[in-house]
Amino acid sequence: MRARALAALLALALVAGWGGPEDHSDPASLAAERHTSASLAQKTVVAPVAKAPGATRGSSARRQSIQITPIPGGSGGVRPRVDCDRERCVALTYDDGPGLPTPRLLDILQRRHARATFFLVGEMIRLRPATARRIARGHHEIGVHSWDHTNLTTLSTDRIRSQLLRTLRIIRNVTGVRATLSRPPYGATNRRVRMVERQLGLAEILWDVDTADWLYRDPDSVIRRALRGVRRNSIILMHDIRPTTVDAAPRLIRALRSRGFKLVTVTELLGETIPGRSYYLPGRQVIR
Ligand code: NI
Repeated sequence: MRARALAALLALALVAGWGGPEDHSDPASLAAERHTSASLAQKTVVAPVAKAPGATRGSSARRQSIQITPIPGGSGGVRPRVDCDRERCVALTYDDGPGLPTPRLLDILQRRHARATFFLVGEMIRLRPATARRIARGHHEIGVHSWDHTNLTTLSTDRIRSQLLRTLRIIRNVTGVRATLSRPPYGATNRRVRMVERQLGLAEILWDVDTADWLYRDPDSVIRRALRGVRRNSIILMHDIRPTTVDAAPRLIRALRSRGFKLVTVTELLGETIPGRSYYLPGRQVIR
């Protein structure tokens, strides 16, 4: 954790002096029609659910001493510690961006001091680098969601590696963040995908609550499904390329908080994750 935090601070220092290209792109929504298969769950093969390595976190000594900590996977800021061993935590996750509605979501999250985890698609970062940078600057966590949203289980090992590595590199180059999380498109994974993830230092993050927001494009449906499924330490799956999902965000945040949930990033929720391990989905168990 500490090494990762230092790396994030270093990356911030590097990025601070660099403006980078501006985001002038206004492309056809590349990922707009990606989630057309409703049968992804059947295709999914997932490893046994991993227990988060909780032994190194949440000790009483640490609880009593340091109250601020660098943001894992973020850009090096500090914030009050949230201890998910004690609090009711939940991680909002947004896939497939950066999309056109993403800046609006970032405004909503910022106004409400809420943070989320974004699983970014490499070619979408190439289209909207300024939005990717804004995600990092907002202290949200960034993970890898492949280069072009291919089902990784259909690819050779080399091509899986290329999909993840290219995306890791563009995240690093554009935002300065060294990502440690991977979410395979469609949640489709297998032994080879996890082996490559392990080699690249990536833990595999699935979810336990699927809002099906790509299918039911209605804010009320997003909120209803999220609230119906949410438990302590849930990981909620959404897509920030959907305007209706962004519409749902203010009310969803309010509803979760009124139920006592703290909104945290995935790494805050799970603690230090293990590369190549898969977290949640089979049976949708929530750990701890
Ligand atoms: Ni996706």
